[in-house]
Amino acid sequence: MAEESAETSAPAATHVPTCAEALALVDAHNAEEYHRVHARIVGSVMAWYASTYDPGREDYWYAVGALHDVDFEEHPEQHCVAGVDILRAAGVDQGVIRSAMSHRWGLTGTPWEPTEQMEKILYAADELTGLIYAAIRMRPSKSTLDMDLKSVKKKFKDKRFAAGCSREVITDGAERLGWTLDELIDRTLQAMQAFEREQGGMPGITTELA
Ligand SMILES: [Fe+2]
Repeated sequence: MAEESAETSAPAATHVPTCAEALALVDAHNAEEYHRVHARIVGSVMAWYASTYDPGREDYWYAVGALHDVDFEEHPEQHCVAGVDILRAAGVDQGVIRSAMSHRWGLTGTPWEPTEQMEKILYAADELTGLIYAAIRMRPSKSTLDMDLKSVKKKFKDKRFAAGCSREVITDGAERLGWTLDELIDRTLQAMQAFEREQGGMPGITTELA
């Protein structure tokens, strides 16, 4: 990462935020409830995937997931660029910054392409969690727990539904991982179900934000 830290005069930080620290940083820069909820969902989804792909580093993956949109509310036009400065100012580890800010590769000015498994999963799952969250609102149960792959795919195929969730990024993300779209959806749904169980409901829909 030495070449990346050369972009700034400040020494590269090495602090990996705890889950609570990552969320505090998100909340300091995001007033909208959905942005705060989304950070918690993506952090938890990333930790869920870490238990398979990088066991023992769940908190690191959580920090990457929770912080990925830290700049979006304040700097939507500089998404994944302004975030670098915000995270550096907070002393966040350069590896966490790189992985978090790589998730809009090709769509914003981020200099980093997702190359690590963690980064590819974030790239692929981010938009999908937004689509699943929007789909929950339409369900009588307001829950992921009675959702299955088929119901998510139906929403995925309806391009007018949650049109802001890019189907292209989700499809490209699955390809980068070497997974089928069904695998990506099924696993990300499982991760969101685990989050909902742990929270005792879906924050912002059936429960308060913790
Ligand atoms: Fe996001």
